[in-house]
Amino acid sequence: MKRSLYALLVLLLGSAAFAQTTITVAAGAVGQELELTRAAAQRYMEQNPGVTVNVLETPDLSDNRLSVYLQLFEARSPEVDVFQIDVIWPGDLAEHFVDLYEYGAREVADEHFPAIIENNTVDGRLVGIPWFTDAGLLYYRTDLLEKYGYDGPPTTWEELTEMAQTIQDGERAAGNPDFWGYVWQGNSYEGLTCDALEWVASFGGGSIISPEGVITINNPAAIDAVELAASWVGTISPNGVTSFGEEEARNMWQAGNAAFMRNWPYAYSLGNAADSAIAGNFDVSPLPAGPGGSPAATLGGWQLAVSRYSANPEVAADVALFMASYEEQKIRAVEGSLNPTIMALYEDAEVLEAVPFFGSLYDVFINAVARPSTVSAPDYAAVSRAFYTAVHSVLTGTETAADAMAIAEADIQDITGLETGAPTAD
Ligand code: GLC
Repeated sequence: MKRSLYALLVLLLGSAAFAQTTITVAAGAVGQELELTRAAAQRYMEQNPGVTVNVLETPDLSDNRLSVYLQLFEARSPEVDVFQIDVIWPGDLAEHFVDLYEYGAREVADEHFPAIIENNTVDGRLVGIPWFTDAGLLYYRTDLLEKYGYDGPPTTWEELTEMAQTIQDGERAAGNPDFWGYVWQGNSYEGLTCDALEWVASFGGGSIISPEGVITINNPAAIDAVELAASWVGTISPNGVTSFGEEEARNMWQAGNAAFMRNWPYAYSLGNAADSAIAGNFDVSPLPAGPGGSPAATLGGWQLAVSRYSANPEVAADVALFMASYEEQKIRAVEGSLNPTIMALYEDAEVLEAVPFFGSLYDVFINAVARPSTVSAPDYAAVSRAFYTAVHSVLTGTETAADAMAIAEADIQDITGLETGAPTAD
């Protein structure tokens, strides 16, 4: 009797173990992302006891994350079921993902910003469900602006340069030798493409390749913009900024050692957290404009895509749709200041209370400038590399801006075979 009970238990437990489906989600770990995604996985598992959701941490820098993914795709590996993918990747990576319209996304697609759904649609297939969106912002220290007699954040790059220098000089004289005026993303990687596109577009220098497919990067406004940024290195920005990603900039800023920072919205809730030296002493605004141009924010953001090589695409899609749902995006917005892609969340009182700029800077989010990923697919990664490598060579003083933009133009032409031309005024 005892023995048969034992046998029965083994049988039951064994079959339960076999029925258990495991879904692995490859996710980002910038700021609080990993904790937020793990908490979401936990909530899914509570509602779906037959499923184990593993969250796999991937490298912070977008380029490095892409390399990891490409290796898995190359091997057609079923190891990862759900991939967190950058807004610039649908065109390059579409062939590796299922069409989420075949797995229930049709019912929810309308809730999201149409431009992001369009971005994620390749040949009519929805290759990623939008998860959060991003746009470049200017973070500024309200206490220091007041201390130095400024009544608001700078609206032009020229103003920013002057204010950053004045505050830096003052704070150093007051005894902080580690203080810098402006921190941003200057490493040679995708993040530099984002920052540099903002400089170039805000100077009226176009968006590298126009949506119509003309390579426009080699123009006087773009050259001036990159030249100005290079002048910051070693003056208002540390020399080390040429190896900064988002997190290096945020760490310096959050320790209280910078007057201004360019970063994405995620840095907002962390900056106001209990362990932040600047909690309550900063705000965000649109990035400054160039001479005769208007402010530009690069469009960023991440989607959840289901691998074609997954052994359980149905369950994987269910996990992805759960994580990108209204309730889950709301938690990420309130706790992590990650911008929802579901439009109604911008009218949700709790979201707006936690992150007021989601309302006040709404226009920045909906007017953000897209990188030329659709027009250059499946070669966007190579195009971007050509661009940020050229910009980086100017920041480090290896090339003049004029030479570097000519090199970028030639490289991008080799990669894409597209025509060159002048940017059209917008
Ligand atoms: C952010 C953006 C992403 C961009 C990356 C660059 O994660 O959301 O779109 O490519 O930064 O560093």
